[in-house]
Amino acid sequence: MKNKWLRLTALSAALVMSASMGGCGKEVTNDETSGSFSIAGGTGAGDAEGTSQESITSSVDATQGQTNDPAVTTSVSGDNGFSAVTRSAEELEGIIGNNGSHGGNGGSQGGNNGSQGGNGTSQGGNGGSQGGNNGSQGGNGGTSAPTGITLSYYSAEVIVGQTIQYPVVSETISEVWTSSDNSIATVDAAGNITGVSEGNCVIRVVSAENSSIGAELKVTVTSSNGIQEVDDVTYVDGILIANKTYALPDSYNPGGLTSETSQAFAELAAGAANDGLSIYVSSGFRSYWDQDYIYNNYVAQSGQATADTFSARPGHSEHQTGLAIDVNEISDAFIGTPEAIWLEEHCTEYGFIIRYPKGKQQITGYKYEPWHIRYVGKTVAQQFKDAAAAAGDPYLTLEEYLGIDSYYH
Ligand code: DAL
Ligand code: ZN
Repeated sequence: MKNKWLRLTALSAALVMSASMGGCGKEVTNDETSGSFSIAGGTGAGDAEGTSQESITSSVDATQGQTNDPAVTTSVSGDNGFSAVTRSAEELEGIIGNNGSHGGNGGSQGGNNGSQGGNGTSQGGNGGSQGGNNGSQGGNGGTSAPTGITLSYYSAEVIVGQTIQYPVVSETISEVWTSSDNSIATVDAAGNITGVSEGNCVIRVVSAENSSIGAELKVTVTSSNGIQEVDDVTYVDGILIANKTYALPDSYNPGGLTSETSQAFAELAAGAANDGLSIYVSSGFRSYWDQDYIYNNYVAQSGQATADTFSARPGHSEHQTGLAIDVNEISDAFIGTPEAIWLEEHCTEYGFIIRYPKGKQQITGYKYEPWHIRYVGKTVAQQFKDAAAAAGDPYLTLEEYLGIDSYYH
């Protein structure tokens, strides 16, 4: 699995990509009307297819990268649920050193568990040994964001169950940390953030003395294997997925092949032409309803069990993504042709992968389809190819690469 910290970037890229979809006309007619595929002799080759009310004082000059105090201790005890937290100069320096890259370690720092509780409704502050007055009743969960302090980072991606180190606070304040949604992520008294479930929330830190002084950071929590749902569309490590497990809503309609897919395919076709081969689109984008029609025809012809081996149920076809293309002859006759061999060898150079490789029906859920290519972009395609080489498996599947399954649940 790739570096999780890269995922937000990857997802953003995918979202940008999906936002730019549209505008391309359909590249092909429905397979039925073009007659470009069929199931010959019933062989099925076709593809119609909380806060604990704890205050902690830390002192660090983040801009200088130096701590001001050798050690900062809040020593508390008693019935208020406070705990002592000490941040040594070394610790703070280490944090400063790490935060630039959001170094993401799973370790829980600052050792305490008081992450549950109020959402900033009443900061029952207690200075503990620091002068101890009870109940600086200041804090409230007001809607405007507090300002006045600088954090070492303002957004973070956390995996469910993972705890990331607190962002360093620039000013010397008694910190009170809260999460806008403890069902998404909790934050402990030291500011360490733990992912609870997928979603987004805001982590806020304010001064125990004055809750209008503080800062906020945005947290995105992703599931442990990088699966994220955006508007009912599933992305795994930023890659849009449509398979038997993950469906697209019927409303998902980029209106044609994405412009990136079309452009990449044009380059691929030119590369093939250079080598004296003709590779052309036979079936590109298909809407949910196109697929509904096609799939049900196959069910009528062959029965559902057989149809399910080569044709996706509506909502489950990659063709609905605008990122998949069937080339040339959509039948087993394509297997072993110079074009099929060329495609297998060169498609990753253009950002495509063979989506349903040979011998992987148990994994993809579909028979071998050497004609069905999926655009993933050149970077991912190259990583995919490298992973296949490392695994010694020329028929690596996207499911194996991403660690997901594909079956109708
Ligand atoms: N032939 C592929 C699985 C589809 O119908 O999308
Ligand atoms: Zn296809």
